[in-house]
Amino acid sequence: MILVAFFIAVLFFSILALFAFPIFSPIPYFPSNGKDKKLILTTLKLKNNQVMIDLGAGDGWVVFQAAHMAFQKKLNTKFIAVELNPILVMILMILRIFHPNRNNITVIRGDIFSIDYSPFQTSNPNFHILFYMYISPWLIDRVVKKIRAAIPHYSMVSYYYPVKNMNAYSEQKGIHSIYRYEI
Ligand SMILES: C[S@@+](CC[C@H](N)C(=O)[O-])C[C@H]1O[C@@H](n2cnc3c(N)ncnc32)[C@H](O)[C@@H]1O
Repeated sequence: MILVAFFIAVLFFSILALFAFPIFSPIPYFPSNGKDKKLILTTLKLKNNQVMIDLGAGDGWVVFQAAHMAFQKKLNTKFIAVELNPILVMILMILRIFHPNRNNITVIRGDIFSIDYSPFQTSNPNFHILFYMYISPWLIDRVVKKIRAAIPHYSMVSYYYPVKNMNAYSEQKGIHSIYRYEI
């Protein structure tokens, strides 16, 4: 009995650590505001021959909603969810199985500060790349630098925080702002 309680406690604190400690998750898990759902989806401007990549996908709320929309509109858009936290990766993988557009969705366990961004373009040569992110403002630059070094032209939608030293193509004002960039 004591052993079972000990096991449950260890499991509980391990899961908690994955969410609480910056070493495991440098950006806390915090989903985009549900009230901005419509605005986020319209700002993405989904279209054919496009790959949408959610950098730090969390529970997949945005990427799965977008994939749903593309499915309804019969678009061939591809979706990639990149997430570091193994618990969230597991949730993303399970949710993907039940998604009607699952064939166009890929879940990747990866670190957005160290992954190689070039395969996103090279494995989809005729597709336009669109990034979505909701990450800490002081970390956005690091990600943008990596993207810029790997992909010459792309679109980017940043929720809540603008990208420093970049002029936004548009800013939609919801509960929080949604910034779109065209590079
Ligand atoms: C603010 S949440 C945004 C979740 C989701 N994109 C949304 O808008 O609802 C940030 C997410 O980034 C993930 N994350 C943190 N550091 C990461 C890293 N280095 N690489 C990939 N994902 C990371 C966190 O686990 C968390 O799920």
